[in-house]
Amino acid sequence: MASFFVTGTDTEVGKTRVSLGLMRALRNQGSSVIGMKPIASGCHRTSAGLRNEDAELIRGEGTSEIPYELLNPFAFEEAVAPHAAAEKAGVSIDIDRIRSAYKSLYGLAEHIVIEGAGGWRVPLSASSSLSDLVAELNIPVVLVVGLRLGCINHALLTAESILNDNRTLAGWVANQITEDYPFQESSMRVLTSKIAAPLLGEVPYIENLEVQNISRCLDLSLLK
Ligand SMILES: Nc1ncnc2c1ncn2[C@@H]1O[C@H](COP(=O)(O)OP(=O)(O)OP(=O)(O)O)[C@@H](O)[C@H]1O
Ligand SMILES: [Mg+2]
Repeated sequence: MASFFVTGTDTEVGKTRVSLGLMRALRNQGSSVIGMKPIASGCHRTSAGLRNEDAELIRGEGTSEIPYELLNPFAFEEAVAPHAAAEKAGVSIDIDRIRSAYKSLYGLAEHIVIEGAGGWRVPLSASSSLSDLVAELNIPVVLVVGLRLGCINHALLTAESILNDNRTLAGWVANQITEDYPFQESSMRVLTSKIAAPLLGEVPYIENLEVQNISRCLDLSLLK
């Protein structure tokens, strides 16, 4: 059983795409897998309650059906940072509740892939951040680097924080989120030499990216 927490250098860098690709790659090698998006802001109302697009995609990629509330215990309507969305909803994000959802899912599949929200040090409340959740779950981290101007600094700071927090950085994925990033080659050289974890793959810029194509870019045998 191995779980992975997928974080990113920022919001909108491809965490959901890479989480789905990772789930598909695990499935392709014959493993069972389910996913979680424990905290999601930007949800739409349905008759069953608030639902989030990332969470539903992740749910759809799983090998077993799981109750939405376990996959996404904290769903907020406002598309803002988790602590702000929680404040607006009058809710406090309780890490214990996420841990107990994770425990209920544990054992339902060989792997659980958990997509974070925003980046590594995103606050959940005045006294906790997303990285505290990962410490509580005690699982390795996969870092998605969205290739664009400024990504080296964001990537190195994030990798450094993950390691300083005594978490395992199982690998990182370079995701080409813009059609044309002129410094890609030199950025990749710096990132590969400075991130102390294996590069699991490079995902090219493809509009309407298919999950199967993302999974083909990832080499799970490199996971640390
Ligand atoms: N390699 C790529 N090629 C083309 N488009 C991409 C690529 N990766 C991501 N995108 C697009 O960029 C957007 C952001 O991707 P994604 O939703 O995976 O990011 P995220 O980090 O999960 O965002 P959030 O912080 O909102 O959860 C999406 O519209 C997605 O389709
Ligand atoms: Mg996402």
